[in-house]
Amino acid sequence: MSGPDIAGDLGPADADLSDPDSFVGGVPHATFRRLRDDDPVSWTPEHDGGRGFWSVTRYADVLDVSRQPELFSCAQGIRIEDMDAEEHAARRTMMETDSPQHTRYRRLVSKPFNRREVMTYEHGLRLLARAGIDRVAGRQRVEFVRDVAQELPMRMLGRLLGVPDEDGPWLVEQGDALLGNSDPEFTTHPVGLVDTDEFRLMPFRSPAGIDLFQYASEQAKQRIAHPSDDVISDLLKPPPGETEPLTVLEFNNFFTLLVAAGNDTTRYTMTAGIKALMERPDQLAALRSAIGTDEKLVSSAVEEILRWGTVTMHFRRTATSDLQLHGRQIAAGDKVVMWFMSADYDDRQFADPFTFDIRRTPNEHAAFGIRSQHLCLGAHLARLEIRILLEELLPRLADIQPAGPVERLRSNFIAGIKRLPVDMTWS
Ligand code: HEM
Repeated sequence: MSGPDIAGDLGPADADLSDPDSFVGGVPHATFRRLRDDDPVSWTPEHDGGRGFWSVTRYADVLDVSRQPELFSCAQGIRIEDMDAEEHAARRTMMETDSPQHTRYRRLVSKPFNRREVMTYEHGLRLLARAGIDRVAGRQRVEFVRDVAQELPMRMLGRLLGVPDEDGPWLVEQGDALLGNSDPEFTTHPVGLVDTDEFRLMPFRSPAGIDLFQYASEQAKQRIAHPSDDVISDLLKPPPGETEPLTVLEFNNFFTLLVAAGNDTTRYTMTAGIKALMERPDQLAALRSAIGTDEKLVSSAVEEILRWGTVTMHFRRTATSDLQLHGRQIAAGDKVVMWFMSADYDDRQFADPFTFDIRRTPNEHAAFGIRSQHLCLGAHLARLEIRILLEELLPRLADIQPAGPVERLRSNFIAGIKRLPVDMTWS
């Protein structure tokens, strides 16, 4: 069964993909579909005067770009925005590096995010999820994003970082300001709408970067005085095989990356999932009866939710030499944007991509990237959080219904539902 959200309205076929306003009414799927069919590696001018970029929209081509870091580098930036050398030096995180620097950063934090380690968080996460659901239990009208989806990723990230629980809401606000840096609701300085030049050396050109850097420095001071077993303490150790720790700037940027990447993406994916399920009672009922009896189906539902949401809609690479991609001549230095959102709805890869199907197999979606060195660090954690939320929430609900229009983030980077009013009937 397809849903009213996507199949009913694919949006305009000529949306400007460089403009965040093109995404406020929903993902412009008709534009992506036209590009996949007619112009799969297409030149996209930038509405705000940027130098333009290549939009790669088919799954196979996104895969080609993603798995060849020697041809398509991260080192000049992974978002569409161009940065000069000074901005780049000030804002670089592990995302904006190629190997071997990338490996050096990644090994610092790979342990707490590996699958085995993440599975040890399951019990604690379940308790957190139950406590969060208990707080809304019995209420009919619920704003799903704020009242349900926000809490779990925030609390879990806070525990991993080793920061006090009460700082969680503040960290979420800062994460929102970073990832939602083009949405006036989330920041006083929406990029592209007001002059953000004074923040050009901060993460995401955002004033939130200043506060987060200060917070990170205070946390570092505390850990240096009292080392503990958490991700902040890991970040303060020298990378494996080295004697010197990261510089203060590297540490601050790393901390900020985790706050930006670890909250909103999972929250928005959970929200996209609940929306898709409540609009498809047959899928919701099938998933509910699989909980506790059919682990495989629950896992495949999580994967379908990830594909359906593809919350991180794109990342950019930069061509390292003149080269051909799907018959197009790309020049060294050109920006090449992998549209994961388009790849995940490519019918060359997914049968009936506009059908939400919790039984979909295979489902090698691109929500966490595809076969890249930069594959999402938090993928196991995000999967677990989504699964636990479903397992804890759905058995307690007799019914869940839409209760008003959704509101979406103004962004061509993050596909985020900011508000999802629902009516819940508790069992
Ligand atoms: C459903 C939720 C999430 C989605 C959709 C998502 C998506 C992504 C994507 C698409 C990438 C880039 C892949 C590439 O360039 O090939 C990425 C990288 C990354 N993600 Fe996630 N992410 C999610 C959750 C998380 C969480 C919970 C954390 C941490 C707590 C996290 C931390 C990171 C980091 C640090 C990177 C950079 C990895 C690197 O450069 O090696 N993400 N994520």
